[in-house]
Amino acid sequence: MANKVLNVVLMCAGKSSRLGLNLPKVILPINGKSLIERTIKTLQHLKPKKIILVVGFKKDLVIDLVKSLNFRNIHIVEQKKQLGTGDAVKKAIAKMDLNSQLLVLNGDTPFVDLDTIKRSIRDFNKKNLDLNFATTKPRDPFGYGRIFRSKNRKIERIIEEKDCNDEQREINEVNSGLYLFKTSSLKKFLPDMPKRNGSEYYLTDLIEIFSRNNKKITTTQVKDDRRFLNINTIDDYRKAHELDKIFFYEECIKKNILLKDPFSIVIDQDVNISKNVSIGPNVQITGKSTIDQGVVIEGNCLINNSKIGANTLVKPFVSIDNSIVGKDCQLGPFSNLRPDTILSNQVKIGNYVEIKKSNIGNKSKVPHLSYIGDTDMGSSVNIGAGSITCNYDGFDKHKTTIGDEVFVGSNTMMVAPVTLGKKSTTGAGTVLSKNLSENTLGITRIKEKQIPNWNRKPKIKK
Ligand code: UD1
Ligand code: CA
Repeated sequence: MANKVLNVVLMCAGKSSRLGLNLPKVILPINGKSLIERTIKTLQHLKPKKIILVVGFKKDLVIDLVKSLNFRNIHIVEQKKQLGTGDAVKKAIAKMDLNSQLLVLNGDTPFVDLDTIKRSIRDFNKKNLDLNFATTKPRDPFGYGRIFRSKNRKIERIIEEKDCNDEQREINEVNSGLYLFKTSSLKKFLPDMPKRNGSEYYLTDLIEIFSRNNKKITTTQVKDDRRFLNINTIDDYRKAHELDKIFFYEECIKKNILLKDPFSIVIDQDVNISKNVSIGPNVQITGKSTIDQGVVIEGNCLINNSKIGANTLVKPFVSIDNSIVGKDCQLGPFSNLRPDTILSNQVKIGNYVEIKKSNIGNKSKVPHLSYIGDTDMGSSVNIGAGSITCNYDGFDKHKTTIGDEVFVGSNTMMVAPVTLGKKSTTGAGTVLSKNLSENTLGITRIKEKQIPNWNRKPKIKK
């Protein structure tokens, strides 16, 4: 019968010396998210009983990072001396339940895909195996352990790059660094691992030991070898950033999301984008933002922790922070929605307009050069160009309430606290400091004088 309990060992103790940064590579961010966070997030989908992290080199950096991420079921095991991947696993499984399956993964493979892992588990359970491990045929096998098979394709052993002779180096099937063991078999054969280079233990030597002892071994063929890029050198680290963007781009294409310039766009992992969205160059969408169907974001926009409703058009140079935008709205160019702004549907916020902590009702328009703060605005309101709410008296913030279908003339100063009743109107240039009743015109204009034959004094050049 197949073992069902799954434990995971993630090997993160290595010195990362080929990278030359004097840091454990698993803490390095790829487009803002560390290798270890990416890998653990993927592994969590398997609902393992335990994820055991083997740490060693600069372990506190790794432990602190993982703690800050608040994952469940993480157990830390220390490998004090970095004596190789075989030794790392030895340290990890000391107290492990024998009646379980153990997934072992290199910590430097951040894009590992669930599809390969699931296929490996399926094969393992179907055939009651002792070992299944993932292999791939990359275009350039340099650096990987080569898979050595007998003439009848039986797996015999893995030969590490540095131990290969010229002929073996020609083998293009390589070890991807993902292994699924029957824990009891692993425990039985771990002590048989030979010492290499005086003190090291290669986990990969177990393949030959299992094979010699006629244990049941199969391999899972990785479908997309890019998923098993392991980060050894600074060049691998650079490639990882590009690959991450490419994977995201490919996912977007599947969902019918168009990224017009994928390498200039930054989208956080927790952002949710629906289908038929189009995003132009230099857009950053961060935090827990949601972009609904059919939204068009033209370019150079910042959207943080905000929701954009379906079919809204966001023109260039718009900043939206901690706000909610309804359906079919039009924003920008150059609009600034500051925290706690809520726009209902079909709202238009135009150029050089700042909105803060305000509700704007359906079909209302603030098209040009305005500041609206601490305001409750009804529906179908029109705010003339240059109008502002004077919400701050130097000590406190005050509220402005604007009823439905109000027409605010250009350059109106609404001195808060103030209420504009339904369908009221203000004349251009009004300084409104008293409440305005429904259907009333508020106007504070001094009588216009016209002085004929007025000649300005000629300019005298100094
Ligand atoms: C390893 C495999 C190689 C495979 C490749 C795939 C071995 C001996 N070789 O090589 O066959 O093709 O991965 O990516 O396993 N680590 C520890 N403790 C140690 C040494 C390493 O925890 O003492 C960790 C590292 O932090 C790293 C992982 O194990 O996350 C793999 O180590 P690394 O040195 O990168 O192995 P490779 O040379 O890439
Ligand atoms: Ca590696």
